[in-house]
Amino acid sequence: MLHYKELGLVNSRELFKDAVKGGYAIPAFNFNNLEQLQAIISACVETKSPVILQVSKGARKYANQTLLQYLAKGAVEYANELGYKIPIVLHLDHGDSFETCKSCIETGFSSVMIDGSHLPYEENVRLTKQVVEYAHQYDVTVEGELGVLAGIEDEVSSDHTSYTRPEEVEDFVKKTGVDSLAISIGTSHGAFKFKVKPGEEPPPLRFDILEECEKRIPGFPIVLHGASSIPQDIVAEINKYGGKMENAAGVSEDQLRKAASSAVCKINIDSDGRLAMTAAIRKVFVEKPEEFDPRKYLGPARDKLKELYKHKIVNVLGSADKVVNI
Ligand code: G3H
Ligand code: 13P
Ligand code: ZN
Repeated sequence: MLHYKELGLVNSRELFKDAVKGGYAIPAFNFNNLEQLQAIISACVETKSPVILQVSKGARKYANQTLLQYLAKGAVEYANELGYKIPIVLHLDHGDSFETCKSCIETGFSSVMIDGSHLPYEENVRLTKQVVEYAHQYDVTVEGELGVLAGIEDEVSSDHTSYTRPEEVEDFVKKTGVDSLAISIGTSHGAFKFKVKPGEEPPPLRFDILEECEKRIPGFPIVLHGASSIPQDIVAEINKYGGKMENAAGVSEDQLRKAASSAVCKINIDSDGRLAMTAAIRKVFVEKPEEFDPRKYLGPARDKLKELYKHKIVNVLGSADKVVNI
């Protein structure tokens, strides 16, 4: 058993308390490789923001569990080296079973999500409770989910949205003992969230459902998945340099800012980062076809990613200058 505290990580409990009180959201950025981790950490240190490093089951497989531990430890030391100590959470994104969550807890994760959202309600309660009981023995925090997002939820595919039913949230939180709850209010995963024609506005998020949930579990940390905005300038750049991403659309940053000022205290962003890296890499490949050193295209990709994350932190999530309890 490798406890996360040995790696210098923290769980999400105090971060969420402060975020709910302060009306901002903690960034939860996914990573699979070194450049993404460098971009996340340097962006968060420079903006003095706490951060949740998210690893999906697929990312865990891709990056190798042993390397991940050292990367997480390295991330903590890298942040210190950059001159500012920030709280770093290592979180399993969309955990699909008790065994996956247990294995992450045993190998240095400080937080896990158990995604039972596709299960019948009582089964979701049972599985989430089982994970919570195990995780809390090690002071690891747990995120549960109620309601299904359209798109791909990791290996759980769903092509329809089923919004969270506010009448279930209080019972779910009470019965499971979860530390935070992901809800479905109209966001979805990936780069094609809404079927909109060019120039058309995507449908607004269901703030009425969010408010109903908040009323039933006042002050309880709420999480938004599928919160990429799919910046149209980045999509245009990808297409300009040979990409093919038609009708990509995301959630407006204004709506995310509004959500962050409520009990939404964790906002998950992955696709926007993938787009930023892809745009930068395509640009190098087109403009400098003679380059073959990976540092020459991964470096610009890392820079663009860092710029994107700083923008999210400062202008969307509001988590800049919010490092506390360190
Ligand atoms: O919600 C899913 C995340 O974007 C992670 O995606 O399973 O392709 O790593 P992944
Ligand atoms: P996006 O695909 O909108 O970036 O969502 C990421 C996410 O929810 C990870 O869990
Ligand atoms: Zn997600």
